[in-house]
Amino acid sequence: AGPVLRDPFGREIRYLRLSVTDRCDLRCSYCLLPDVRFVPRAELLSLEELDILASGFVELGVRKLRITGGEPLVRRGIEGLFGALSRHVVSGALQELTLTTNATQLARHAAMLADNGVRRINVSLDTLDPARFAAITGADVLPAVLAGIAAARAAGIAVKLNVVALRGLNEGDLFPLVEYCAAEGMDLTFIEVMPMGDMPPAARLDRFWPLGDLRARLAGRYTVTEDEHHRTGGPARYVRLRETGQRIGFITPLTGNFCEGCNRVRVDCRGQLHLCLGREEQADLRGALRTGGPEGLRSAIRAAIARKPAAHGFDYSDGKVAGTMPRPMSHTGG
Ligand code: GTP
Ligand code: 5AD
Ligand code: SF4
Repeated sequence: AGPVLRDPFGREIRYLRLSVTDRCDLRCSYCLLPDVRFVPRAELLSLEELDILASGFVELGVRKLRITGGEPLVRRGIEGLFGALSRHVVSGALQELTLTTNATQLARHAAMLADNGVRRINVSLDTLDPARFAAITGADVLPAVLAGIAAARAAGIAVKLNVVALRGLNEGDLFPLVEYCAAEGMDLTFIEVMPMGDMPPAARLDRFWPLGDLRARLAGRYTVTEDEHHRTGGPARYVRLRETGQRIGFITPLTGNFCEGCNRVRVDCRGQLHLCLGREEQADLRGALRTGGPEGLRSAIRAAIARKPAAHGFDYSDGKVAGTMPRPMSHTGG
């Protein structure tokens, strides 16, 4: 019962990823250029507009809301937005309110997040080695990240680690990360690096590490079994390691397309709706809201969903990565 957004391929859109800023305190080599130009502050949606936009989607049947960035916890006043959005958790309209964060600022926000109904978060962390962390992110702040993870868990929030698999950069972190998550009882997901943003191939394409290879390496040390039934509403497919009982996820945009089951859209920090991470189709929701109010917003959302593309164009075949998308990840929040 209740309204639902359905796209031309019959897919129900129940999941909104809302980017609250394109700014970040890290400079991960595959994500941001060192001299990145951020969106001028005057063009950012206000916190009130972010709330109205998200709430419009909730009224249309969205049940899962993920706050992203850039780094969402560097947005000033973010606690006010979580405070406002928590009413949808209390009412039961939202089944999940969550975020994806680099965790550098997580320690001071953990209690606030738990108080606002956040139960489970994803933390982006590609290595447990302090020097490699500094090399990948440009900042020597691994201890703050680990403290952030600990604070979130102490506040009762489950943490899943998201690791971008980077050939020649964090291959040596595979087993340490697996062991860390086993010891801590945390889920772990590996992600294939996507050709997004306008950067030299050395930052990304040369780093591509297909997850089939990573999985084979895991299977050399553990008994890997499929866990087909575990789904979180995201694109990851899960396996279990028999020896530790832990769950490992694989997000394979390049070697295993998951678009058939797509249930999500993204809104960026300027109020542009992106119908697919790897496609150009957009809709100006801020404009629709400013000229048409909440009703104008809802009809703009419905009209846009009717234009959702079937799938992204990222591909990996014959040893080559294809389907480059010039829009950077930090615009849409991944
Ligand atoms: P869970 O609720 O934990 O399943 O979250 P999730 O996997 O939906 O969200 P998360 O922020 O952990 O996503 C991890 C990464 O997966 C993103 O940053 C993207 O790199 C990738 N990803 C998520 N959704 C999509 C998608 O729709 N298309 C593509 N190509 N990649 C996606
Ligand atoms: N390919 C895959 N994942 C990426 N992320 C950032 N850029 C890329 C990319 N080019 C990831 C971050 C984080 C999430 C928000 O997106 O590591 O986990
Ligand atoms: Fe959906 Fe596009 Fe992601 Fe595919 S790439 S799962 S169509 S958002």
